[in-house]
Amino acid sequence: MGLSKDFLWGGATAANQAEGGVLEGGRGLSNIDLMPTGPDRKKVAAGDLEMLEWKEGYYYPAKEAIDMYHRYMEDIQLFAEMGFKVYRMSLSWSRIFPNGDDLEPNEEGLAFYESIFHELKKHKIEPLVTIAHFDVPVHLIKEYGGWKNRKLVEFYSRYAETVLKRYKGLVKYWLTINEINILLHSPFVGGGIVFKAGDNKLEINYQAAHHQLLASALATKIAHEVDPGNMVGCMLAGGSHYPYTCRPEDYQEAINRDREGYFFIDVQARGKYPNYALKKFEREGLNIQMEAGDHAILAASPVDFVTFSYYCSRTVSAHSEDYAQATGNLFPSIKNEHLPSTEWGWQIDPLGLRNSLNQMYDRYQKPLFIVENGLGAIDIPDENGYVADDYRIDYLKKHVQALKDAVEIDGVELLGYTTWGCIDLVAASTGQMSKRYGFIYVDRDDEGNGTLNRTKKKSFEWYKKVIATNGEEL
Ligand code: BG6
Repeated sequence: MGLSKDFLWGGATAANQAEGGVLEGGRGLSNIDLMPTGPDRKKVAAGDLEMLEWKEGYYYPAKEAIDMYHRYMEDIQLFAEMGFKVYRMSLSWSRIFPNGDDLEPNEEGLAFYESIFHELKKHKIEPLVTIAHFDVPVHLIKEYGGWKNRKLVEFYSRYAETVLKRYKGLVKYWLTINEINILLHSPFVGGGIVFKAGDNKLEINYQAAHHQLLASALATKIAHEVDPGNMVGCMLAGGSHYPYTCRPEDYQEAINRDREGYFFIDVQARGKYPNYALKKFEREGLNIQMEAGDHAILAASPVDFVTFSYYCSRTVSAHSEDYAQATGNLFPSIKNEHLPSTEWGWQIDPLGLRNSLNQMYDRYQKPLFIVENGLGAIDIPDENGYVADDYRIDYLKKHVQALKDAVEIDGVELLGYTTWGCIDLVAASTGQMSKRYGFIYVDRDDEGNGTLNRTKKKSFEWYKKVIATNGEEL
């Protein structure tokens, strides 16, 4: 009993939320670089073309983020001290192809990640690398319209091939696209998509989805050709939908909402479009352009494993408008009175994690990997700068117990667990630093003040013990 001795414990970050250094090393700009904090962040997310450049009077947190660009040695040292077996990170597309459509990569960018991988190797930490995590070079947005344009399949494939070849032998675990289903909920963040008046948004989103699915399958194919030992995964913004009541139409609504996300993983893990999606396109008159050969590409290269983020479950009804809504998350949800909420209104549901693991394992029969889970909370350091984050320990403890139950009681095959924001970083939804997830406190506030110094929180020692005992002592 217990988790396998090879269970991959670790933490996760993303380039756009941690790295900074956006004007260094020959890097080009990407979509998230242009998202300020404050209410206008939503304008950019809504695809307002006017906002697609740095403007006076705004604070852009991605510019410096937590400056991992210069501090990765110190950060990796701290991850090693916690005993990380794996570190999930993403590459910045525009650090490697500054414009996205360049024919040759930027050597300085490639060398930067290579030195990170060497550093990880030194500490026996396995990298788990997301090729695109909310990351579209700005030039591809302005010139091509982002992922709605089929040219992106070619540009992404070139990028993927470049990094897969360059990091052969250094990286084994790859994820093609972070939270691929976010495309339907935040098309600018997920796909660099900007709409014009009169656009059929749903059709554009599913067209972009088709391009991402193709690109992901091509990257999987290349990864296996470059090194048959490579393991490639897809990545879902997870969290199942509960029916608010036992009315059959509420249950039906929950199934339909789950399918909005599973649609992507159904294609990536099974290699074909599910019938319910094809029927939806037909019913809603969505004309999705597919070329001869596309279905063969999808069928030829399903992923090796399935990963997802899990923060909360969601609750829906066929009559959702009749009920109070939970706040703070991109995915609509009725307030579930059986669950407590975080300071940002995300509903805490550890058993929901076990349920999601079971649902996904039943559906795909492939190894799973939880690549994000954590509590975004306000931390207040004491007079010595120490954060006693018992609330975070409590959240994580319950979720780790839930994943153990899924493995030990239900027999789910789980490769590993990486907590989100193992070091404090910029929040994706709000751009805040004050929404902290880390075991490591970073001295930086929402306006960009602070020394950027790193300090261990109470949860640092807790997680170290969890890893050392392979999850036996929580
Ligand atoms: C996931 C993303 O959606 O959730 C991360 O993959 C993100 O990039 C995380 O940071 C938590 O969301 P937030 O908005 O609290 O940072």
